[in-house]
Amino acid sequence: MPELIPLISQHEINEKTREIGQKITQDYKGLDLVVVGVLKGSFIFLADLVRQISIDHEIDLVGASSYEGTSSTGQIVFTKQPDLELKGRDVLLVEDIVDTGRTLAKMIEFMQRLNPRSIKICALIDKSERREAQINVDYACFRLDEGFIVGYGLDYNEKYRNLPAIFDLKL
Ligand code: IMP
Ligand code: MG
Repeated sequence: MPELIPLISQHEINEKTREIGQKITQDYKGLDLVVVGVLKGSFIFLADLVRQISIDHEIDLVGASSYEGTSSTGQIVFTKQPDLELKGRDVLLVEDIVDTGRTLAKMIEFMQRLNPRSIKICALIDKSERREAQINVDYACFRLDEGFIVGYGLDYNEKYRNLPAIFDLKL
């Protein structure tokens, strides 16, 4: 049986999300913010984060998937395109976790073709150990050196997304 070791509590997540939401609110004053969540992993973080952003903004979703088990397949599959017009607008991409950075690199490349005025990245977890692509995470809630984590939207083979806090998964 896989073992789940508590890593980040609900309280810590709430505190950080509030802090990052306030920062985004300040930074995007006067801009045309569209918060774009990357499915599926970001859905819980996205829902909490946007409720901490107190300027007017719009929300969209894009789908990308690269993982099977605990390692990247290297292949990124786009499963959903944005619905909103992003041209000339200020896009904030929201990811659950940036690991190798390959998913985001591909996603940014794709988004750039839609000609937004700006693209920034917000991630719940910035996991630096295996970074391959040059990705600058503008807003990171937590940094992690290594390990495979689940909960609060993050899955292992589609399980554990429902856990309210973040756990280290030991197989
Ligand atoms: P990357 O392309 O290697 O940066 O992979 C990013 C995606 O892999 C994330 O959006 C997650 O869906 C998944 N992922 C990477 N590390 C973890 C982890 O520790 N737990 C759960 N999913 C992860
Ligand atoms: Mg995943």
